[in-house]
Amino acid sequence: MTGTTSESRLILPRYLREPAEKRTPVGFPDYRSTALRAPLRTPVDLPHRLTEVTGPVLGEDRVLPQDADLTLRNGGEAIGQRILVYGRVLDSDGRPVPDALVEVWQANAAGRYRHVADNWPAPLDPHFDGLGRVVTDSLGRYEFMTVKPGAYPWGNHHNAWRPAHIHFSLFGRAFTQRLVTQMYFPDDPLFGQDPIFNAIPPVARHRAVSRYSLERTQDNWALAFEWDIVLRGTDQTPFETDDDGDVA
Ligand SMILES: [Fe+2]
Repeated sequence: MTGTTSESRLILPRYLREPAEKRTPVGFPDYRSTALRAPLRTPVDLPHRLTEVTGPVLGEDRVLPQDADLTLRNGGEAIGQRILVYGRVLDSDGRPVPDALVEVWQANAAGRYRHVADNWPAPLDPHFDGLGRVVTDSLGRYEFMTVKPGAYPWGNHHNAWRPAHIHFSLFGRAFTQRLVTQMYFPDDPLFGQDPIFNAIPPVARHRAVSRYSLERTQDNWALAFEWDIVLRGTDQTPFETDDDGDVA
């Protein structure tokens, strides 16, 4: 071997952390079950090493077009108000995140989940399982066709009903960019008494509520609701540093 070799070094991106005051608390007294599952000590932020900053391999080819249409299951149509839910997945700089896996789950139009633990007296729908997934396109866009979920009682306190909502799970470009959240509908009369919604810091609550979209509402077919999702963290140009513990 002749000459010198320059030592190559793996350069990893890093992601901004959300300040503590902007985080939804893991324990919230009015949301009673958080008392059993919230940690008793302040969580410790772990350093972002290789596992945390490299992207998940999701197998996009496993996600089928019909996975984004929750209204057609088991050979028939779901009952309920048909809605298109759409938006973009953005990073904290407002840039679209392509190839993000977006998964949703929700109650049916009567407010019941197809789940062993959900047995309140509302009907199940044989043509609705409440599960969907889609991968964002090159502009970070996603959309689902579904039915509007009903409100449901959940036993947190007397006459406690959850506002209509759809659960979302997202994977961005790295495992640190996973987000699990809920999308709500505008002007829901149940917001005021829902501890889960009200556990969100007041300045951030509007970001959990979708917007009715007349422009995407489909004549004689479906209402539309738009909801953009901003993933925690920012996707910076790879850089070289050893000035902190964040980059392995
Ligand atoms: Fe729910």
